[in-house]
Amino acid sequence: MPLDIIIGAQWGDEGKGRIVDLLAKNANFVARYSGGDNAGHTVTVGSATHKLHLIPSGIVHEHTIGILGNGVVINPTTLQTEIERLRGAGVSLTPERLRISYAAHIITPAHRALDTALEKSRGAEALGTTQRGIGPAYTSKVMRHGIRAGDMLDVETFADAIKAQVEETNLQLTRLYDAEPLDPQQVAVAYVEFARLFAPYIDDTATILHHALRQNQSILAEGAQGTLLDLDHGTYPFVTSSNPTAPAALTGLGLGLGHIGRIVGVTKAFQTRVGEGPFPTEVSGDTATRLRGTGENPWDEFGTTTGRPRRVGWLDLPLLRYAVRINGLTEIALTKLDVLTGLPEIQICTAYRDAGRTHEHLPLGPANLAPFTPIYETLPGWDEDLWDVRAFSQLPAAACNYILRIEDLIGVPVRMVSVGPEREQVIHID
Ligand code: GDP
Ligand code: IMO
Ligand code: MG
Repeated sequence: MPLDIIIGAQWGDEGKGRIVDLLAKNANFVARYSGGDNAGHTVTVGSATHKLHLIPSGIVHEHTIGILGNGVVINPTTLQTEIERLRGAGVSLTPERLRISYAAHIITPAHRALDTALEKSRGAEALGTTQRGIGPAYTSKVMRHGIRAGDMLDVETFADAIKAQVEETNLQLTRLYDAEPLDPQQVAVAYVEFARLFAPYIDDTATILHHALRQNQSILAEGAQGTLLDLDHGTYPFVTSSNPTAPAALTGLGLGLGHIGRIVGVTKAFQTRVGEGPFPTEVSGDTATRLRGTGENPWDEFGTTTGRPRRVGWLDLPLLRYAVRINGLTEIALTKLDVLTGLPEIQICTAYRDAGRTHEHLPLGPANLAPFTPIYETLPGWDEDLWDVRAFSQLPAAACNYILRIEDLIGVPVRMVSVGPEREQVIHID
């Protein structure tokens, strides 16, 4: 089918970028539909590692066209840096290859300053945001006084709108949060430059995608963040300010309901989270260090966007079942199986217990996970290095058993398993 959707089934950083890169081989368009530069997606091709925050990961394939849909919030500074970095790495990035929806909202330094001030004011209750201005930018959108990419096409009114937005935010920064104000004129001058730079990229991307679908071309929708960070369906309030889940790909790109093919949920073979919020299967001590790594490998669990150490734990199947349901997943891509090599035993959380009751599904969504104790099943580990494995039949029996047990317990097939960060390090299962 022409529209395949790739989403994070956990709290983000599941390896979506590398799975999108893999599937983009056969796609005409790769499209981001939500979030902004809070995302950090890693693609490793041979000796090159690309870290993408805004531009869809599939852009690394020269034949694709990248789309930033209406659901995305765009920081022009990040976009400019990213375009330059990709060009420097030999990825051609002409305006023909990257189209930006006129309806995508623009992040300004005022949004970023407000994000930082808000986090500071929360004290011990801070959410642990990426401080990229994501929440305030979506707030502007919902308040109906946001500034959109299409506004860049009229430079004068755009400059006035930017100035007014900074002036208004300054009132909040100084009066409510005791923070430094920004210089409205300086921000407006910088943003006028961005308007000139990005004008050739701005388009009606929904119409582009409609035409593509009519011609039977294929679109890959690249999720950012993850199901449990979804504003409606995640561990509220410890969530992001958009909807990373699969149905949002339609609203975030301006597409109707009739085109969806695969809905791939990407999950690590264990669980991680960066930022605050509940995490029932979190571990500490030696096991945590073992799962997280110490930072010496590029894939160790330190945030792609902020460098923060990620919290780590065992795979949580009640939450994965929830992700299957919320997204309508047709299949799972299981990443980082190689990281489990060498563990004598692997735990998976199969259900939760509270006050003597057992729950395989969350009784009231994932917002309040505090009352639950995970019920674990212990599976044998394996010692074999998996980096060169390319077929299910070559995996050690214990690794096969782990994958089959996950499938069994969530009721959705695992169709891809990655065993290293490189493009080729994937096992396809029919
Ligand atoms: P995303 O935000 O979902 O795209 O994921 P990130 O890029 O933030 O984090 C995933 C990290 O794991 C990156 O450093 C990837 O290169 C790395 N990675 C992805 N899949 C695998 C895998 O199968 N094995 C190993 N060792 N690393 C992987
Ligand atoms: P990718 O696409 C992991 C988390 C932040 C914080 C919460 C709210 O790389 O998977 P925000 O800045 O969005 O207001 O922060 O969401 N968060 C992510 N965690 N991966 C991401 O993106 C994330 N984007 C936001 O750490 O807990
Ligand atoms: Mg990431």
